[in-house]
Order: sequence, then structure tokens, then C-alpha cells
Amino acid sequence: MDLQLYRAHSARMYDYFLGGTTNFAPDREAAGRAMAVFPWARTAARANRAFMHRSTRLLADRGIEQFLDVGTGIPTSPNLHEVAQRVNPRARVVYADNDPIVYAHAQALLHSTPQGRTAYVQADVREPEAILRSAELRDTLDLGRPVALSLVALLHFVPGEDDAHAIVDRLKRAVPAGSALVLSHGTPDFAPAETERAAQVYRAAGTALRMRTREEIARFFDGWRLLDPGLVASHRWRPDAGEDGAGPGGATDAQVSAYAAVAVKP
Ligand SMILES: C[S@@+](CC[C@H](N)C(=O)[O-])C[C@H]1O[C@@H](n2cnc3c(N)ncnc32)[C@H](O)[C@@H]1O
Repeated sequence: MDLQLYRAHSARMYDYFLGGTTNFAPDREAAGRAMAVFPWARTAARANRAFMHRSTRLLADRGIEQFLDVGTGIPTSPNLHEVAQRVNPRARVVYADNDPIVYAHAQALLHSTPQGRTAYVQADVREPEAILRSAELRDTLDLGRPVALSLVALLHFVPGEDDAHAIVDRLKRAVPAGSALVLSHGTPDFAPAETERAAQVYRAAGTALRMRTREEIARFFDGWRLLDPGLVASHRWRPDAGEDGAGPGGATDAQVSAYAAVAVKP
């Protein structure tokens, strides 16, 4: 397996922003260049991770027992299954990512509760059929029952020519009424100059990055019912008191530069 440790990778840069240890010199150098032009990268990463925690907890509380998390990232505890299984030990989670380094660390994602189940698929979201047809998914999730589709901080890595909206529509069609879409996405809306410069750093490091406007991100949810408070900067989505990410008092929309929402299939 070629982990390409000689070049920066988005998953390892994100791990560095979160304070993790699965990153190498090229990742840290590129992350440093991104922080020079977008100084709040760590705040943005923490706010995003905290949104994943809150939305997972909410959906598990509402009775969703199955999760498909595409663009999982390098494991950082608590991972999605840990959050969901704390609420419901029977929760089942399928993780998917296209980065070999995530696969190399996937063991940490497979420590399920005995009552629940987790699985990992090495796959690219641009091939949704491969994920939906995978044995890991078929053996773990019942697509006749509601599933939370988790696409958190993923789709800004899927540029225009790959038609991110068609990909999301395919995944939405695969799940029944009562399913949920959990999505966060980088945006230029709040700090256009800084986010464009950060995108250039990613591009120079070999990773296409396509920030989208609020309108473009809202289209991912078309036809599904947004839960309160709708599509907002990710730290504003149902913040907890004293949570681990940036709270509304601690971060600005520009520092977070991402939208997040959860919607339910009618
Ligand atoms: C910023 S991390 C987000 C991790 C996690 N979802 C979170 O929000 O904490 C983005 C992840 O998406 C993965 N990724 C990027 N492009 C992808 C693609 N086309 N298919 C699957 N995964 C992809 C990267 O490897 C990385 O692990």
C-alpha cells in the first residue's frame, strides 16, 4: 500500500489541525502554509468535529440506529460509532474513505460494542454504487430501515466536474423515509479572500478544494426537511454549553467558514 508519506494529504492535515499525531513533515508544512493564510484552521476543524458529535448524538437520540459515514478521516476519539453507541449500544456504523492512511488506521474504527457493529470500506464517494453494493455495507446495514448519511467536511474535496450534487442524490435515493443527511462543507461566504488563499495551498499540495456558497450547499438537501436551526455556520448548529469545539461566543463565522445542517427524508 502506498501511503504517499512524501506529499501532504488532506486527511493528515486535518489530523494535524485537530492536534492528532498521524501526520508527517509534508502534511505539517502544508498545514502551516494553510494557517499562514487562514489562521483559524484549528478552530474550523474543531468546530466541524464538534458538529459531527452533536448531530450524531441527536440522531441516535431520535432513534436512528444505522450510520453511513463517508470521508471518515483518520480516527480521532470519540469517533462517530463511539458517540452513537454511547447513546445506543446497538448502533451500526459503516465508515468509508478513499485515503489509504485511513484504511491503515481503520482498526480503531472497528472496536464496536458487542451489541452494535462497525465496518470499514475503502472507497471513493465519487463511486457511490461501489459503497452501496459493498459486502461490508450489505452485511452491516439494512437499507430498508432509516440510515443517517454522514458527509461531514467531505464534499469540498469533490470539485465541480465530479458533480457532487448527483453523488449526494444517488446516496439519498438509496435510503428510506426517516433517513437523515448530515453534511458540513467549507464556504467562501464569510471570508472570501482567506478561504481562497487556503484553497490555493491545498491545490498546490495536490488536493482539489472547491468551497461552495450557501445556495450551492443548500441544494444538497433538496427535497428533505431541514431540522432546526437549518443551514448555519457549523458552530451555530445546536451548540452545547461547554462543548469541545468552538462555541458561538468563542468563534466567528469567518473563523469557521463552513455551513452545516441535518435534514430528514420525508
Ligand atoms: C476533513 S476530513 C473529515 C473527517 C471527518 N468526516 C470529520 O469531519 O471529522 C475529510 C476526509 O475525506 C476524505 N476524502 C476526500 N476525498 C474523498 C473521496 N473522494 N472519497 C472518499 N473520501 C474522501 C479524506 O481522505 C479525509 O479523510
